[in-house]
Amino acid sequence: MIWRLLSFVGLQASAAVLVWFLVEPPTRMSAALVSAIGAGYVWLLVDAVRGFRLLNWLRRGEATEVSLGQGLWGEAAERMRRLLRARERQVVDGEGKLRDFLAALQASPNGVVLLDAEGRIEWFNQMAGAHFGFDARRDLLQHFGNLVRDPGFAAYYAERNFNHDVVMPGRDSTSAKPVRLSVHLHPYGEGRCLLLSRDITALEQAEVMRRDFVANVSHEIRTPLTVLAGFVETLQSLPLGDDERQRYLGLMAQQAHRMQSLVNDLLTLSRLEGSPLPSVHDWVSVPAVLRACQSEAQELSRLLWGGSQNIVFDSAPSCEISGSQPELYSAVFNLVGNAIRYTPADKNIHVRWQALSDGACVLSVEDTGPGIAPEHLPRLTERFYRVDRSRSRDTGGTGLGLAIVKHVAQRHGAELRIASTIGKGSIFSLVFQANRVRAIAE
Ligand SMILES: Nc1ncnc2c1ncn2[C@@H]1O[C@H](COP(=O)(O)OP(=O)(O)OP(=O)(O)O)[C@@H](O)[C@H]1O
Ligand SMILES: [Mg+2]
Repeated sequence: MIWRLLSFVGLQASAAVLVWFLVEPPTRMSAALVSAIGAGYVWLLVDAVRGFRLLNWLRRGEATEVSLGQGLWGEAAERMRRLLRARERQVVDGEGKLRDFLAALQASPNGVVLLDAEGRIEWFNQMAGAHFGFDARRDLLQHFGNLVRDPGFAAYYAERNFNHDVVMPGRDSTSAKPVRLSVHLHPYGEGRCLLLSRDITALEQAEVMRRDFVANVSHEIRTPLTVLAGFVETLQSLPLGDDERQRYLGLMAQQAHRMQSLVNDLLTLSRLEGSPLPSVHDWVSVPAVLRACQSEAQELSRLLWGGSQNIVFDSAPSCEISGSQPELYSAVFNLVGNAIRYTPADKNIHVRWQALSDGACVLSVEDTGPGIAPEHLPRLTERFYRVDRSRSRDTGGTGLGLAIVKHVAQRHGAELRIASTIGKGSIFSLVFQANRVRAIAE
């Protein structure tokens, strides 16, 4: 400020001195005075122009520089420029952070919707778009309640008790393929809401499966237990002859055996689910597995049908499959065992090992039994699923065999294929990929 004053006074003094020397008396004094006042006006004019230029620059708000040289206006312009640059940096930083934040919300596996105080959609991520069928160009600033018209959600939104979530059908939900969404609103700010949506279809299905599984296991165990308890009561209360006693004990042993095989199958399944995948470096001889199956199969057929079935095992080529011997044996014998149990006496069972052109190999078990209706085929590998419950139970089946086979196949990179025609018979095949099979020297 002092410089400003000095420059103003200095300019006036210089003008006065200059005129003092140029003008002769007697007008010298008045001329010097006028020139000093004139110089003062010029200084004020120049100053006003610089101030006006600065104001004009600020008004335009342009990024271009304004040059006001030294002095108060130059200093003011420089400081404003620095302030503006700092603000610009802050805005850019803020925008970057907002972008990162939105990108993180986009990457969320849950649907995220931001609602304003009136319940209008301010922003939503792609997952929410997929869950509710929103389109960013069409649905932004629309009322959420107008777009999602599920009555359960409407009641939840009207109640405004957001301590819990609400479950509603997803946009693509059909009766054949239900989709279930959990939707939870979280209030924040002044009346705004954060809406989170989560696809809980798999979770609900797992819960249903768990409940079914427990119910099935309980049912399967309760049935033989009831029968056993009945026989025990009979033995305790009735005086029975030796023959009758033996018959009852035989029936009791049968029920105990059923329970034992159920528990064994359940343990096998849980082992298969819980254990690490079998090593691809352990090789299992196919002929050895088939030989072991063949002798067991003859024994089972003799027990069930007096050996009247015609069971043929093709001679297996000398090759090996990588994986676990006990698992592969149990899978193959489950298929052979089913063929024997569900094929009546005098019918044929044929076990083959074939190489396909792409190097894959197929182990197939074909029977000329009753066959299976097409509607049962997709469900055969479900736990406890039996086509004919009473027939399966008569032969001691628990409905876990094919679930075990499917598991073993998956663990060996193989596929279980089932083809069946009612009245003609069934073919159950295990298809092993080429990289899991190798030939061995004869
Ligand atoms: N070769 C077959 N011919 C006809 N029906 C079959 C054949 N194999 C399986 N099934 C049907 O598929 C159902 C499921 O078979 P799965 O092996 O899973 O169970 P299971 O034989 O009843 O009992 P488990 O094998 O646990 O002792 C059987 O109950 C039977 O109805
Ligand atoms: Mg079976």
